[in-house]
Amino acid sequence: MPRCLRRGVCHYGYDARNRAASIGIGIAEPAYREKGYGTEAMRLMLDYGFNELNLNRVELTVSSFNPRAIHVYKKVGFKEEGILRQCDYNDGQYYDVLVMSLLREEW
Ligand SMILES: CC(C)(COP(=O)(O)OP(=O)(O)OC[C@H]1O[C@@H](n2cnc3c(N)ncnc32)[C@H](O)[C@@H]1OP(=O)(O)O)[C@@H](O)C(=O)NCCC(=O)NCCS
Repeated sequence: MPRCLRRGVCHYGYDARNRAASIGIGIAEPAYREKGYGTEAMRLMLDYGFNELNLNRVELTVSSFNPRAIHVYKKVGFKEEGILRQCDYNDGQYYDVLVMSLLREEW
């Protein structure tokens, strides 16, 4: 695995026709979490998406098993817009997955 992926990853899935994108983030090494990098990376990705790619909408999904990620996404402006029921199987249990989005007019 490339060294950068062992540290973490940010990805953008870009839908030019609808000026929409789905994004994701993961800091692979636990030692680098909870230091503000995830919040900063999300803000940089959103800035790039709205200001450079001219997006109207950015969306993501996150398991309800992951309150830290949900906190970060809400902090940068994402709103909950739907629930995929019992979509994530983790540690022997099913968890709902939240669909969250942020619109250009809210950024
Ligand atoms: C989710 C992730 C990207 C967040 O990045 P990070 O750098 O760790 O987060 P930050 O340091 O920017 O912010 C963490 C915030 O979550 C809060 N937090 C931590 N644990 C929490 C919990 N159990 N419930 C609610 N909030 C929590 C912290 O207090 C902090 O909030 P604050 O800045 O308002 O005080 C990162 O932790 C990560 O990659 N985790 C593993 C992979 C993952 O979960 N990816 C997301 C998949 S959708």
